[in-house]
Amino acid sequence: MVFRLDGQTILITGAAGGIGKQTAVVCATLGANVVLADRQAPTDVADFLTSQGYAAAAVVFDVTDRVAVERVINGLPKIDAVVANAGYCPWDDWNEAGWDEIFKQVIDINLLGLMHLTRAALARMAELGKGRIVIVSSVAARVGGLAASAHYVAAKGGTSAFVKWLARRAAPLGIAVNSVAPGAISTPMTDGQTFDVAGIPMRRMGEPREIAMPIAFLCSEGASYMCGATLDVNGGVYMN
Ligand SMILES: NC(=O)c1ccc[n+]([C@@H]2O[C@H](COP(=O)([O-])OP(=O)(O)OC[C@H]3O[C@@H](n4cnc5c(N)ncnc54)[C@H](O)[C@@H]3O)[C@@H](O)[C@H]2O)c1
Repeated sequence: MVFRLDGQTILITGAAGGIGKQTAVVCATLGANVVLADRQAPTDVADFLTSQGYAAAAVVFDVTDRVAVERVINGLPKIDAVVANAGYCPWDDWNEAGWDEIFKQVIDINLLGLMHLTRAALARMAELGKGRIVIVSSVAARVGGLAASAHYVAAKGGTSAFVKWLARRAAPLGIAVNSVAPGAISTPMTDGQTFDVAGIPMRRMGEPREIAMPIAFLCSEGASYMCGATLDVNGGVYMN
């Protein structure tokens, strides 16, 4: 079963959120031991999964805190895959007072946090000579955003470029780095936002599980020759 994840330890950031939670559920049901990370430990999701007989644990760190990220990653008995999913998308306007501070937060969470996480994970995986890193970018990196503000679009553009940088660096170490770029997905992040579904060929927003499944695929043996790829999962709003 090349798509199963039996025995793999997979760390998922942003696991209290819409896509992260479903990623934990899908990976756990495929046999992985999931470690759910967020700013507050997602114990409810981890407890639910363990009550169903799956292997799950909750940990807490802020992705912008390098020391905290490294402490958790280095404390895991082993780590087969990391899903860099934590993200922040304020729906604001760059003319607003105080916007520059928000810009820094968005870059810190979406980009600097990604550096902290993948740097630490790469070092652990390099010890074993194998591993998977899946980075959650966005259709915003492809099209300049459907409704998102400038900071988020710039951060996700940087994310998608970084996927290729990291993939080149990691591949000779036996570690595959790939990415999923979701379109508009119904999660707490998009609550209260209106998307023009008439402009989406599939005429609907996506569900978090529909992003979780491609993420799980990228962690599996099924993606064994994929390197630096971005899967566009967006109902057809952007076709590469
Ligand atoms: N929902 C969408 O339409 C959409 C579209 C494209 C890309 N994405 C991306 O998908 C990923 C998941 O988003 P989602 O829609 O599930 O959003 P969400 O808001 O439901 O979940 C995001 C999670 O990230 C966590 N997080 C934020 N800042 C953090 C920090 N400093 N440290 C640790 N955790 C932090 C939050 O606590 C939250 O649980 C994000 O990277 C997002 O940019 C989402």
